[in-house]
Amino acid sequence: MDYVRWAERYDIFYEAAPEGELEFYLNAIERVDGSVLELGVGTGRIAIPAAMMGHDVTGVDLNRPMLERARGKLGDASLAGSLELLEADMCELELPKRDFDLVIVPAHTLALVSEATRQLAALKRCAMHMASDATLIFNLFNPSDDLIHDESGERFLLGVVVNEDDGTRHVLTGINNFDTEAQTNYCIQTIESFDRNGQLIDREELNVAFRYLHHHQVEEMLAEAGLKLIDFFGDFNGEPLSQSSEEMIYICRLG
Ligand SMILES: C[S@@+](CC[C@H](N)C(=O)[O-])C[C@H]1O[C@@H](n2cnc3c(N)ncnc32)[C@H](O)[C@@H]1O
Repeated sequence: MDYVRWAERYDIFYEAAPEGELEFYLNAIERVDGSVLELGVGTGRIAIPAAMMGHDVTGVDLNRPMLERARGKLGDASLAGSLELLEADMCELELPKRDFDLVIVPAHTLALVSEATRQLAALKRCAMHMASDATLIFNLFNPSDDLIHDESGERFLLGVVVNEDDGTRHVLTGINNFDTEAQTNYCIQTIESFDRNGQLIDREELNVAFRYLHHHQVEEMLAEAGLKLIDFFGDFNGEPLSQSSEEMIYICRLG
């Protein structure tokens, strides 16, 4: 994955994030009276508003261009709390602070870790950095039967993002390619940008591999990582997880 090109376009892509995702995480952060650790902080989409709300946030990311983008955005933000941005691999994370009150891994980031053993290692690192009564929240996409067995190769619409200032329209699409043996979706995501007259001004393709997990595998990994599942949902409104859910959202504690 080319994170320089990704970092430039990430904020456009995440304008089309699943409905309610940003609010869900910000509400969870608001309810916590304490420090927050975000693994895979990216360009600070969640961490920056959290720090603006008055929280002390530590954001970790493996890819420097993402962190540089976050630092650039931070330049303009006025923070009531604090934001520390650190370059590290979440699967090997070892921070001096081990008592965060909330740890979050939003936006399917655990699926960007390409092997099961490393996904488990990441969950163990979450547990290692949690205070005894802390909460861990993360979300993954639900690999429903329909989704992973769809071999149509058809392009699907992820979203349309309009820049109100200059009228630029960004059309975000994807093509999935599921390898059910490797439990990996080799996805090609495309951003096409059109000016206000409808002229194509930019087209970028980004390849992303997601190692997906089935719900029972998440349960097994959590138990192995010393984490207890408190609740799980199928969307950001708190609907139960079902075969047709798009999301798998997990709330966990130590134990
Ligand atoms: C989908 S983005 C999510 C960004 C941010 N959490 C948000 O919700 O907007 C995933 C981020 O995780 C980072 N990442 C991927 N693998 C990682 C790893 N092993 N350790 C730390 N960060 C990682 C990527 O660089 C990217 O910035």
